[in-house]
Order: sequence, then structure tokens, then C-alpha cells
Amino acid sequence: MVFDSRTITLKDGRKCILRPAQPDDSADLIEYMEKTAGETQFVLRYPDEVNYTVEQEREILGNILNDPGQIMMTGIVDGKLAGNCSINGIGAKRKIRHRCSLAITLYREYWNLGIGAAMIDYLAELAKQIGYEQIDLEVVEDNTRAQALYKKCGFEESGKRTRALKFDDGTYHDEILMTKIL
Ligand SMILES: CC(C)(COP(=O)(O)OP(=O)(O)OC[C@H]1O[C@@H](n2cnc3c(N)ncnc32)[C@H](O)[C@@H]1OP(=O)(O)O)[C@@H](O)C(=O)NCCC(=O)NCCS
Repeated sequence: MVFDSRTITLKDGRKCILRPAQPDDSADLIEYMEKTAGETQFVLRYPDEVNYTVEQEREILGNILNDPGQIMMTGIVDGKLAGNCSINGIGAKRKIRHRCSLAITLYREYWNLGIGAAMIDYLAELAKQIGYEQIDLEVVEDNTRAQALYKKCGFEESGKRTRALKFDDGTYHDEILMTKIL
């Protein structure tokens, strides 16, 4: 969906614009997915699993902009893409349509500047306006940085999924389930 841009001041004094991802961001977002997948093991994909063409990505971003139940928010610092955060409905069936999920990843050079907290706070505001009643997410158990951020933003632990992920090195990793009631 389309939403108003918001400018925040980062911990280092720079400004960051939080705005909807646009079809023209396609090439930047593909590069971002590949690079960030190489910078952290805490996103689902490996770099070689980013297989979108710019045209496919344009279509996806256009569909998200026109979907009142989905949000894709980019953070722009000094004209460059710093990261992305999104909200998606869990499903259209009446028993689950009160729930949405959240995903967030920033380029490593933009960590610890306050972008993550600002994005999640703004997305939670927008998700409530849409009519969602809670945000659910999964976070790898070893990802203490993200868990700290989610707790700061009002999420609470609601469970654990054992052996949720299997890395290429053969190790299994549990996921912590977290929920924020809106
Ligand atoms: C997780 C992520 C989105 C955080 O974004 P961010 O912009 O760095 O977060 P913020 O700067 O808003 O806040 C980070 C907070 O965590 C704290 N923190 C940083 N490292 C920490 C650690 N190892 N343990 C505990 N807290 C930590 C910071 O002090 C800060 O809190 P404060 O503002 O109260 O001081 C970012 O690190 C990222 O993109 N990581 C890789 C992808 C990822 O893990 N995504 C989540 C998948 S579920």
C-alpha cells in the first residue's frame, strides 16, 4: 500500500527517509537482497537464491503498492538504500486475517543507527490502521541483536520452532516466535 513518507534523525545525526518501495527501486532491491544475504546468516535466503529479474521485481513491487494489506518500506540515507522492512497478511481466511508478519533487513553499514526501531514503530502504526490486531515473526535463536530490537519495540516471546533452519554447513537452528499485540 501507499503511505506517507517519514523522515527520522539517526543516532549519528544523518536523516533517513522511510518511504514505500517503488517499482523504480527494483534493481537496488535485488542488489540489496543478494548483498545482505552475504552479510548476515540471519535472513532466510542465501545470495545464490536471489533469482529475480528487474522486470519480475518491478511487478512484485507494483502489486505490493496496490495491495491494501501489504507494506514494503525502504529506508533511504543520503539517497542510498539502507534497508527494507515489510508487513504481509498471514492469510485471507477469517480465522487468521487479524494477523500479519514482519520482516526486516538492513545493510550492515546501517546497523545500530536507530533505523530498525523507527521502521518497526512506523510499520506497527500502519498495520494497526489497516486493521491487523497483531504482528507475528520468527527470529533465529542466535540472533540476539534482532531479539533485543523486537523486545524494545513491544514484541514478546510466544514459542519456539525446533530445528526450523538447516544451514549449508549442516547445522540446525531453532527459531523463537514473537508477537506484538497492536
Ligand atoms: C536486526 C536489525 C534489523 C536491527 O536494526 P538496527 O537499525 O541496527 O536496530 P536499532 O539501531 O534500531 O536498534 C538496535 C538495538 O539493539 C541493541 N543491540 C545491538 N546489538 C545488540 C546485541 N548484540 N545484543 C543486544 N542488543 C543489541 C542496540 O543497542 C539498540 O538498542 P538501543 O537503541 O536501545 O541502544 C539489523 O541489525 C539487521 O538488519 N540485521 C540483519 C538481518 C536480521 O537479523 N534481520 C532480522 C531477522 S528476524
